[in-house]
Amino acid sequence: MMKEPILTVAGLCAGYGEKPMVSDVSFALGQGEIFCIVGESGCGKSTLLKAILGAAPELRVLGGSIALRGEELTAMPEARRRKLCTEKMGMVFQNPGSAFNPIRSYKKQFIETLKSHGAYRPNSFLSQVREAFDKLGLEDCQRILQSCPYEMSGGMNQRIAMALALLLGQEILLADEPTSALDATVQMQMARELRRLRDVSGIAQIIVTHNLALAEYLGDRIAVMYAGRVVELGKADQVLFSPRHPYTKSLIEAIPSLDGKMPAGLPGSPPMTGPEPRGCEFCPRCPRAGQACKTAAYALADTGGGHFAACTGEKGGAA
Ligand SMILES: Nc1ncnc2c1ncn2[C@@H]1O[C@H](COP(=O)(O)OP(=O)(O)OP(=O)(O)O)[C@@H](O)[C@H]1O
Ligand SMILES: [Mg+2]
Repeated sequence: MMKEPILTVAGLCAGYGEKPMVSDVSFALGQGEIFCIVGESGCGKSTLLKAILGAAPELRVLGGSIALRGEELTAMPEARRRKLCTEKMGMVFQNPGSAFNPIRSYKKQFIETLKSHGAYRPNSFLSQVREAFDKLGLEDCQRILQSCPYEMSGGMNQRIAMALALLLGQEILLADEPTSALDATVQMQMARELRRLRDVSGIAQIIVTHNLALAEYLGDRIAVMYAGRVVELGKADQVLFSPRHPYTKSLIEAIPSLDGKMPAGLPGSPPMTGPEPRGCEFCPRCPRAGQACKTAAYALADTGGGHFAACTGEKGGAA
C-alpha cells in the first residue's frame, strides 16, 4: 500500500532547449520511501533529478507538474521555490567533495548552512549535531566538526552531508550516483547508511544509480528510464525479478556474474536526443521489436499489483 505521497510528479517534460530531454514522467514518492531510478548513461536520470530540484537554470520544465506536499513547484516564483526546496530537499552528490568547501571546517559550514535556513540554535548546536551523527553511526563529533572536508574520505564526507540533511529537517534526499565514486566496500557501507537514514528518520529518497544491485538493496520501488521516458516502474522485486519491458530484461541480462562467463551485453547505445513523439525508442536495439513498435505511442500500462510497463515484449509491439 502506497504511503501518502510527499512528492508527486505528473506528466513531466523538461529539456535544455525546445525539445524535451525527459518526457511524460509520472510517479509519486511516498513518505519514507526509497525510489530508485536506473538506466544507461544518457537516459535522462540526472536531468529528471535536476528538474525536480529546480537548481539548473539551463533546464526548462516544458510541461507537467511537480508537487511537493501538494504545492505546485513549477508555477511558483523562483525565490519561493528555492526556499521551499532547500527547506525540504537535500542532495547527495556523486562527487562527495562538491557538497562542501574542502578547506573550511565542517563546524563553520554547518553553522553557516543552519543560519541560512534560520535553524541555528547556538545553545543546542552541539547536542543536535551529536544526535544526527549518532543516527548515522558517526563517532567523535567534536573531532569531525574541527576537521575540513579535504581530510576526510569520500564515504565519510557523504555521511556528513547526510547528517546535515538531518539537522536541516529535510524530508527528501535526492542522490545522484551516490556510490559510484567509492570503492566496493565503502559503497556497501554507504548503501547501509542511506537505508538507516530512512529507517531512523523517515527521510524519503530518490536515488539515481547504474547499479542494479544497489537498487535492489535500497529501493522500495524502481523506475527504469530509457531515452528520457520511464519504461518500467514497480516494486523492486517486480522490476528486477519479473521484468516486463525488453529493455529491463536486457539490462538485467547484461550484469556480469562472478562465474567467469561474460554476458552477451546489450549492443548499441540509447539515443541522446530525447524522446520522439511516436515510436518506441528502444526498437532499434530490441530483440522482440515488430512493425507496430515503430509507430506505437508511449503509454505505461498497468500489468497488475502496482507494476507498470510501456511494453511487455509480447506480439512484437507495445503493451
Ligand atoms: N546542461 C546540458 N545541456 C544540454 N544537454 C544536456 C545537459 N546535461 C545533459 N544533457 C543531455 O541530456 C541527455 C541526458 O543526460 P543526463 O545527464 O540526464 O543522463 P543520465 O541518465 O544522468 O546519464 P549518466 O548515467 O551518464 O549520468 C544527454 O543526451 C545529455 O547529453
Ligand atoms: Mg547522470
